Amino acid sequence: MPVVMPIYGTRPEAIKMAPIVAALQASSSLDCFVTVTGQHRSMLDQVNGLFGIVPDHDLNIFEPGQSLNGILTKTIDGLDKLFSVNKPDAVVVQGDTTTSTAGAIAAFYHGIPVVHVEAGLRSGDLFSPFPEEANRKMTSQIASLHLAPTSTSRDNLLAENIPAADIAVTGNSVIDALFMTVDKNVPFTDPLLEELAAAGGRILLSTTHRRENQGEAMRGIGKALARIADAEPDLTVVVPLHRNPVVREAVMPAIEGRPNILVTEPLAYGEFTRMLSISHLVLTDSGGVQEEAPSLGKPVLVMRENTERPEAVIAGTVKLIGTDEDRIVTEVTRLLHEQDYFDSMANAVNPYGDGQAAERTVAAIEQLLGLGTRTADFTYA
Ligand code: UD1
Ligand code: UDP
Repeated sequence: MPVVMPIYGTRPEAIKMAPIVAALQASSSLDCFVTVTGQHRSMLDQVNGLFGIVPDHDLNIFEPGQSLNGILTKTIDGLDKLFSVNKPDAVVVQGDTTTSTAGAIAAFYHGIPVVHVEAGLRSGDLFSPFPEEANRKMTSQIASLHLAPTSTSRDNLLAENIPAADIAVTGNSVIDALFMTVDKNVPFTDPLLEELAAAGGRILLSTTHRRENQGEAMRGIGKALARIADAEPDLTVVVPLHRNPVVREAVMPAIEGRPNILVTEPLAYGEFTRMLSISHLVLTDSGGVQEEAPSLGKPVLVMRENTERPEAVIAGTVKLIGTDEDRIVTEVTRLLHEQDYFDSMANAVNPYGDGQAAERTVAAIEQLLGLGTRTADFTYA
């Protein structure tokens, strides 16, 4: 049986790959061999544990303070050795991380077809998000099968002369993962979060980690959160911090010690989706959170200058607000106090998927390997 190798290494890749791994393992015509790089050692293991995935091979490349070139070279070197003894019929990479692009390059050099999940997202600015916009464009140049989550991302690929026959529109597998998780109502590990859920008050959920926001902009985000918490004593601000010490050093000085700011370690995915479902609004620079929150009807303010995910902005659930401290305070305050405005953004929309992305992905891979036919593309009316 043909062997398909998903390769991934960070938290968002693990979440988005989990439904695909499950569907590959369920396929009667493919064998699945999971390889992880360990780029996000702890946050990766947390997600694999939740979804019951035990990798078949682990490159274990993680080191604190790792550089982009370190991630790239260690991944390529590790995969080079692996492919010399264990050559799959196709690899599957997801998104725009350095693990993802390194996996694509290593496979391409070995003549192994590359399947790119979440293909065709474009911000239009090579340097923002950095290095993700460049990473995903590089992967598009060498992939054999491009799995676009939406028709917008398919159109971006067509505009770059990727052949239409090599593109399928699958929806984003993050919505599969969300649907697999959100209704389980998993208990919070931190008793303070359980108390917060029971109290039923308004929650602002905030995450930040983007490389281009690190430094001054991220310090401003911390100050904005502190000002919002001080001005809104009935609101609780929940901040699950990324493991990156650079993020912690930027955000923590402004927010620590406030009674209505709850800083936590990264929440396990089930806990995070539950927190999302009980939050009033979301303030983030994350890609995945921009895709999940609209499904749950949560208004999202995105602390970035641009987005490669315009669908929910057009649907009215997501607003781009940049990283200016005063602007963040103004936009959050407006959503907290203008009910009509809040209601206009709090629409549950699913422009990113219908929970069937993994199934479409596996059908498209089977077709690539001459084993079947694709299912109909995902459409969003
Ligand atoms: C990476 C991805 C980014 C993605 C983000 C999701 C690249 C270039 N960037 O950025 O696209 O949006 O993940 O979170 O691939 N760390 C730990 N333990 C962990 C994970 C991270 O200690 O489990 C710390 C380490 O000090 C590490 C730092 O965080 O050096 C940064 O991690 P890294 O993977 O280099 O980049 P991210 O900013 O997380
Ligand atoms: N997430 C999580 N726990 C947290 C914060 C985020 O499980 O404490 C999930 C979130 O639901 C989303 C993904 O992590 O699916 C997003 O990851 P991240 O923001 O690190 O990366 P990005 O999506 O920006 O690449």
